[in-house]
Amino acid sequence: PTEKKTYTIGFSQCTGGDEWRRVMLNDMKRELALYPHFQLLYKDAANSTATQLAQIKELVRQDIDLLIISPNETSPVLTAAIDEVFQKGIPVVLLDRKITSDSYNSFIGADNLEIGRMVGEAIPTLLKNGGKVVEIWGLASSSPAQERHKGLMEGISKTTNIQISGQLYGQWEQDTARKVALANLEILREADLVFAHNDVMALSVQRVCQEAGVSPLPLFVGIDGLPGPKSGLQRIMDGTLTATFLYPTGGEEAIEVAAQILAGKAAKREYLLNSIRIDRSNIKAIKAQSDKLLHQQQDIEKLNQRIGQLNDTYASQKNALYVIITC
Ligand code: FRU
Repeated sequence: PTEKKTYTIGFSQCTGGDEWRRVMLNDMKRELALYPHFQLLYKDAANSTATQLAQIKELVRQDIDLLIISPNETSPVLTAAIDEVFQKGIPVVLLDRKITSDSYNSFIGADNLEIGRMVGEAIPTLLKNGGKVVEIWGLASSSPAQERHKGLMEGISKTTNIQISGQLYGQWEQDTARKVALANLEILREADLVFAHNDVMALSVQRVCQEAGVSPLPLFVGIDGLPGPKSGLQRIMDGTLTATFLYPTGGEEAIEVAAQILAGKAAKREYLLNSIRIDRSNIKAIKAQSDKLLHQQQDIEKLNQRIGQLNDTYASQKNALYVIITC
């Protein structure tokens, strides 16, 4: 068989600084172990569209064969930059966040509009007598925040006794959420439920409420449902969050789809990943499954390392043998 050509995949990440995106990168790396002829060039834009623009250019200069990107915003400049890459003939895979043009091969991610709707439909089941909801937005110029908000409004439109009493802008970030919560304590004191576009912000606002002695505390609902000791699943387990909605990273799928495209096979325009509502009723089963999955993933990572070591040993022995034979 002929040797496979080596491919360079550029990955432009809007931010690498939170747990969800660390999980995404790990998911990618695990999958990449199956494709030794792929090399990943990773760039972290640290929440800055300007930085991401520069990094896209840099990746193109480094001659990537395909671009995977989570665009920080749906903004016209970022859309234009991605258009340009696509028009150069470099395939583009959008991951989790969208742009406003069609210049991409595949989009991979959960359906944020649908998740927003599920949240909107869950709220009346949590506030049986109706009440006031404060919405904590992710970055308002990013597609998941826009779609989660739109879905929420659609979801609660079927009820009359739920009122959105405040909208605060936490930009997906723990610290920003903290600042806006501190500046809007009066709205939070009146709230029956806080819905944040991600778990990180929900927990951050909750802490502010606790520190300020808000009593009774409103209910807290988030999105992501990550495993790990401080993340969503554990918070549902200990009752801190009332509900969260699974938001899969798509890291593995992104590499799979990249592999298909690079092999010249047809890729679907959209890969929609499933979400699910997580609360007291199903957390035990989900936590057990997620712990098992984590364990298996760790085993795979160990195996990959072991294979790497064996390959190194084999290569050095082969060299040694070559030296002996040619001496
Ligand atoms: C991580 C994150 C997630 C959220 C997603 C939306 O950076 O903020 O918490 O679900 O991005 O793009």
